[in-house]
Amino acid sequence: MSASTQGNMELWRQYGDYVLMAMPYADEVLVEGRGCRVKDADGRELLDLAAGMFCCVLGHNHPEFVERISAQARHLVHTGTQFLSPAVMRASYKLAQVTPGRLQKSIFLSTGTEANEFAFRLAKAYTGRTGIVGLSHGYYGTSLATKSCSGLSSRHRSDSLPTVAETARIPIAPQCMKCFTDPAQSPCALPCLESLESWLGDWDNVAGVIVEPFLSAGGMLLPPPGYLKRLAEIVREHGALLIVDEAQTGFGRTGTWFAIEHHGVEPDILSLSKSLGNGFPAAAVITTPAIADRVVREGLWNLSSHQSEPMAAAAVEAVIDIVSREGLLERARSNGEYFMEGLRLLSEKNSSVRKIRGQGLIIGFALAPKNPEKAPLFTTAFMQACRRRGVHLTFSYGNSTIRIIPPLVITREEIDLALEVMQKALQEAEAGNASADDALPANPYVRRVYRQHPMGRILKRWWRSSPEEWVEKGGSLLSRIGRS
Ligand SMILES: Cc1ncc(COP(=O)(O)O)c(C=O)c1O
Repeated sequence: MSASTQGNMELWRQYGDYVLMAMPYADEVLVEGRGCRVKDADGRELLDLAAGMFCCVLGHNHPEFVERISAQARHLVHTGTQFLSPAVMRASYKLAQVTPGRLQKSIFLSTGTEANEFAFRLAKAYTGRTGIVGLSHGYYGTSLATKSCSGLSSRHRSDSLPTVAETARIPIAPQCMKCFTDPAQSPCALPCLESLESWLGDWDNVAGVIVEPFLSAGGMLLPPPGYLKRLAEIVREHGALLIVDEAQTGFGRTGTWFAIEHHGVEPDILSLSKSLGNGFPAAAVITTPAIADRVVREGLWNLSSHQSEPMAAAAVEAVIDIVSREGLLERARSNGEYFMEGLRLLSEKNSSVRKIRGQGLIIGFALAPKNPEKAPLFTTAFMQACRRRGVHLTFSYGNSTIRIIPPLVITREEIDLALEVMQKALQEAEAGNASADDALPANPYVRRVYRQHPMGRILKRWWRSSPEEWVEKGGSLLSRIGRS
């Protein structure tokens, strides 16, 4: 990868007008990556505690990974849906060797959303039912169906959008939330699952229940011991299938190949993405021969342009080989414990760091400033202070839970550096008086997006008005302009 000859702001100035700002993009324009670090167009390095978008388990641009996808590209980039390639066949075999239980038959796709959509199709085709249920704090993708069972959409004003019929979210009651955020909590009778039982009992049309074994976007929630096992039993007692989404937790992240292994549960359908391709767009759905054979016998087809892509399969194969050979499961376990211990020490010095929980190298903690008045912007101020000091991390949507999900190749020196930066960033955030404006990136294109928001609200108000009011408002505005 060649570094840019232009700096961050120069690039924004020259090309920013052509970018559809569907995200408040960062000032840093990234040009290179290696291991746990990325470099921006100004030549500044960031320690990436988010593994890109929680994808790069092997680290950025692992040399063998790059070589293997390059070698595949030299042979064949695309086959078309009717053809398989040796890469796809080998990747299917290798996936079956590392996935739990009887999971054996895979299909390769491109994104997590697409994989979950296909998992829903499988569950519906197998059961002959049409309902799909997710968890109220789960996140399963951006399509209408995946959003409809993701709890997070309710915090994203997407509730006003249409939702797919026969989708639902099982609530995790607020009083049960402490079991998901505090691993020291003593075991309970899992009253949080009563609502699932009554949902499934009242509604006998549920085809599948989808869960993440560690709910990352929804607040770094770790299901308490026994929760997923009992959930699986309830799902099966009611004739539905259990879909486990391991977009973020797969391929060693939690110290085992898949996080569901910690719970002693065998999924009916496993949905894989993000970590599966180490940053290359790859997703897969793997299921049992009993499920796959029956739905195929009954006529299920899937035709997607980027199904069975050899490049994605080469990425998957490389991920499985490198995770095994480099002992990344063990590394995630021991470095995860080291990171958690460092965070525990940090919390002894800083009372704003609370409720540290994690499994391997997926770690979350709550941030609550000493002065509650600082709370609304505290997480953003902390994150920005970390970024200024060279550490990139993210937080869960809609709350103040920090997410640490680095590449599994992170070194102890890098963990020490991250902890040192967090300590300074906490002091800075506690001492500072960040305003909403300070929390924004410096780049004018992102600032413009934020500034446009109030205008959006004004326009929305206009749209909700009747045509008569609209004409009246327009007329009075014109007369005011005429007077000025
Ligand atoms: C658990 C989980 N499932 C599904 C998705 C959606 O994946 P994608 O963004 O690749 O469509 C995500 C994305 O964040 C995720 O975290």
